Amino acid sequence: ARLVVLISGSGSNLQAIIDACAAGNIPAEVCAVISNKADAYGLERARNSGIRAEVLDHKAFASRDEYDVALGELIDSFSPDCVVLAGFMRILTPSLVQKFKGKMLNIHPSLLPKYQGLNTHQRALDANDKVHGVSVHFVTEELDGGPVIVQAQVPIENGDTAQTLAQKVHAQEHIIYPLVVKWFSEQRLTMEDNYAVLDNNTL
Ligand code: GRF
Repeated sequence: ARLVVLISGSGSNLQAIIDACAAGNIPAEVCAVISNKADAYGLERARNSGIRAEVLDHKAFASRDEYDVALGELIDSFSPDCVVLAGFMRILTPSLVQKFKGKMLNIHPSLLPKYQGLNTHQRALDANDKVHGVSVHFVTEELDGGPVIVQAQVPIENGDTAQTLAQKVHAQEHIIYPLVVKWFSEQRLTMEDNYAVLDNNTL
């Protein structure tokens, strides 16, 4: 399968997916990495692996609509089977989401439907939750609201901070995101209506 990965930052999830492809664990290749930020470290990770690294700076566009049209064209130019959002910190327009419906995945650092949006670790702490976690889901027009494919939990322990929680969550992210991309690349995972389906079982 052909993957295009969208990032805005460090790209540690990108790295986990690159590594899993290189190790033969995922029958896919990352064809391109696209960032809206020129200084995203993930771009360097891509270049280090010989992967095309593209910057599409949102500040160069007058509106979100115009940006997303250009982004859609850039993604299309790599003919991907799957578009992987890995810390891409932008809200997508409905028409961009529609264009890649059933082919676009996202990872969100909470146990959805809890804590859609930002600052999820602090919000879990503030709510005195005992467990926190991370979700991989299909992208739909509802922000962080598409069908969940896999979740991983982490315990919240005494003394945890937003930072320590983020570390725990990241460790789980690097396990579950490559797993989901593997299933998708093996054509075992689809979105039917508003459900994720794995090996013909609704999740
Ligand atoms: C992750 O916490 C992910 O859940 C969120 O953005 C972060 C990306 O981290 N959507 P990285 O750039 O992959 O290290």
